[in-house]
Amino acid sequence: MKILNLGAGGFIGTHLTERLLNEGHSVIGVDTHTDKIQESLDHERLTFVNRDIRQCDFDLEDMMRDVDLVIDLIAYANPGMYVKMPLEVFRLNFDENMRIVEACVKKRKRLVQFSSCEVYGKTPVASLEGRLPDPENPEYATFSEDMTDLIMGPVCKHRWIYACAKQLLERVLHAYGLKKELNYTIIRPFNFFGPKIDYLPSETDGIPRVFSYFMEALLTGTQMKLVNGGTHRRCYTYIDDAVECIYRIVENPGNVCDQQIFNIGSPKNEVTIRQLAETMREIYAEKFKKPNVPLPEIVKVTGEEFYGKGYEDSDRRIPDISKARTLLGWEPKFGLRELLERTIAYYAKG
Ligand code: NAD
Ligand code: UGA
Repeated sequence: MKILNLGAGGFIGTHLTERLLNEGHSVIGVDTHTDKIQESLDHERLTFVNRDIRQCDFDLEDMMRDVDLVIDLIAYANPGMYVKMPLEVFRLNFDENMRIVEACVKKRKRLVQFSSCEVYGKTPVASLEGRLPDPENPEYATFSEDMTDLIMGPVCKHRWIYACAKQLLERVLHAYGLKKELNYTIIRPFNFFGPKIDYLPSETDGIPRVFSYFMEALLTGTQMKLVNGGTHRRCYTYIDDAVECIYRIVENPGNVCDQQIFNIGSPKNEVTIRQLAETMREIYAEKFKKPNVPLPEIVKVTGEEFYGKGYEDSDRRIPDISKARTLLGWEPKFGLRELLERTIAYYAKG
């Protein structure tokens, strides 16, 4: 296939492009960044377009003229950004993504659209503030694509603008699907980890995800900060497992992915953020620690201190992956410890 991969220079984009090329496909990759994708840049079947899709002379329809598939990974995807620059997040993640959708409709191209597990929002346990019996029951936090209600926080907690933009985009795709004007598949990733996930905070003026904050603390011996005590939980998924599932969606055997939403995640890898910090520190101490740098202290900070006003958090989210299992025969393989060891190794050896 010939595939247009928008956001090919990012974390998922780089790993996915490498896989697509290895499988024999041709890729047109578009991104404002080239550093993560350096190793693939000379590949004969990769055409890399180092452009910002927001530039007025960037012609999306022309770009997708003779491709078989469009993959859209472009977004601002770090919670710090949702708090600091909510309008920019909405404009890129909804308006610009809508331009991609409309171009696919016009050119009749199949679209694989990256959304987010953030669309599920909070659990009913958080929303009802402890009024549910048995709040630890994982059923309250196990999210399924076509059944679970989506629960967002109030407007003054502007962190939710990312989730709302992604959710609205999904609803637009669904509406086009109803009219049979677009063939799409939506992917909801659940916290992928792996090499190249983000820059370290000191390497960028951007705002990375938790792994990079903790990794920098390990490398420099500065504090690992637990936002609101680190009691919230995530299920971490190794990028190789994720790319395997994404690749099956790209292949779309028997068209089983048409007009479908897929969770991609590792339900067995659930941890609190405190456990994540402790496990990362343990692995680093065992395998990578430099003798002259002390191990970081783990401290608590409030959400407002760390992110500013407008922050609120998803309390817990476990993917129901029965759809990917049944339709694609996919099963994640990497456990938490192994995926952390591999990701830490990439940054520690850097
Ligand atoms: P990323 O930030 O590494 O990748 C996004 C890429 O888009 C970046 O390389 C960036 O340079 C590029 N980009 C942004 N604006 C652009 C523009 N105007 N023109 C051209 N390129 C532009 O993020 P990622 O982790 O690879 O995530 C990819 C997608 O998956 C996003 O839509 C994100 O919301 C979604 N997602 C990712 C995760 C995860 O676990 N990584 C979880 C949930 C959702
Ligand atoms: C992120 C982003 O919203 C998206 O990239 C994506 O939709 C989602 O991850 C995903 O990967 O599935 P989140 O998990 O909240 O969401 O992002 P992180 O920045 O990685 O934060 C995880 C948790 O760690 C949060 O509870 C946050 O408060 C906490 N945190 C973050 C700390 O305790 N300390 C830090 O230094 C940084």
